[in-house]
This record gives sequence, C-alpha cells and structure tokens, in this order.
Amino acid sequence: MIIALNNKCNLTKEEFLQYKEELNKIKKNVKLILCPSNIYIGFAKVTNIELGAQNVSKTVSGAYTGEVSAAQLKSMGVKYCIVGHSERRKYQYETDEDINKKVKLLLKEGITPIICIGEEKKQRETNSHIEVITKQIKEDLKNLTNEEKEKVIIAYEPIWSIGTGLIPTNYEIKEIVNVIKYHLPNTKVLYGGSANENNIEELREISVIDGYLLGGLSLKPEKLDIFLEKVEN
Ligand code: PGA
Repeated sequence: MIIALNNKCNLTKEEFLQYKEELNKIKKNVKLILCPSNIYIGFAKVTNIELGAQNVSKTVSGAYTGEVSAAQLKSMGVKYCIVGHSERRKYQYETDEDINKKVKLLLKEGITPIICIGEEKKQRETNSHIEVITKQIKEDLKNLTNEEKEKVIIAYEPIWSIGTGLIPTNYEIKEIVNVIKYHLPNTKVLYGGSANENNIEELREISVIDGYLLGGLSLKPEKLDIFLEKVEN
C-alpha cells in the first residue's frame, strides 16, 4: 500500500519542523511518501518516509528562473514526484504535453512520477469521464515503453472531489481504476480526493486500489495516524 502526502503550498518553516517531529512519531506500516514544498526538501527526510516533490520543470536545466529540474530533485534525494495535479493544470495552465515532458525527464533521472488524472464534475455528469481519463492516460504517457509505463504511478483524483468532502461511490472509483488498469495493467493506481480517517474503511473495500494521495489529511498527523491504522486493518 502506497500513501503519498501532498502538503501543497502550506506550512511555514517552524510549522514544518514541528510537523516533521509529529510525522516521526506516527505508524509507518505502509510505504509513505512525503511531498513538501520544494524549499523544505533539503531537510524534509523523515525515517521510513520516502521523499517526493510536488512538481518538476519541463526543461532539463538552464535559464528558466524559478524552475527546479528533475536532476536537481534527484540530487536532493527525491524518489517520487507528483505531476499534472489538477491545481497545476488549472492555475498554471499545464497541458498534457507539458506533463508528458515532465514524466520523461523524471524517468530519465530514476524518479517515479505520480501522474494525476481526473475528471471535472460536469464531465462526469455528461458521461464523458471515461473519455477524459483515457485521453489523459494516452497523452501523459505518450511514447513511453511498456517498461517505463510500469514504473509510473497513476493517481485518480476526481477534480470535484479534491478538498470538497465529496467522494465518488466505490462503484464509480472502481470503474475508473479498472479503465486505468485496462490500459496500464502493471501500473500502480492511487485514489485521491477527500480521502480521510472516516471514509477509509469504505474505500478499502475497493481492492483494485494500490494506495492513496492525501492533501488535507497530510497536514493532520493525528488523523493521518488513525487513517494509517485503518488502512492496514
Ligand atoms: P484532498 O487533496 O485530500 O485535500 O482532497 C488531494 C489532492 O489534491 O492530492
């Protein structure tokens, strides 16, 4: 079971140091990946938690002010990197083509991309969600070899579910995970979107899920601890 913690743009330095202390104390009975803000990556390593990033540059290196490259992430011990989160697609105008470039650069450096895909509410309501997901899979993983496809992780995150407390039914999640696994039979698939310590028992009934990507819950170590306890039982 893989649990990725997406801190997003949260925590000041003091808050992060305190948070790290608390993370040190929680149960680590699953593979945990911490994705802090880039500025904390240098001191974010917690025992038994792998280091991840929230984004990477689509360029190799050079005159790209403000960007952080895959090689730089690797040199800081980063093993995983979230790519194509819906917030980046929406607010930073990231395209599937950009995401595909990032995925390739990460794989070249031996970093595992956690590629986020998911539909908007309207797309689900108009029954085009499977089409949307399939397009994202094809474009984000374009020209990858089968071996490379097995190395990436896909996070299915319905956009309408992120941070809203709304969650698809188990049937709806399972349907999408099965579509992903139809195209990528040996690729791990996470679910993300309002997963928490209260709904994990129900989510656990979806046996095709390989783990979870947590946003809000990642910032609450006590509740995260309860979540992790329930994930294993
Ligand atoms: P959430 O966010 O758990 O707060 O819904 C998940 C995510 O955006 O990765």
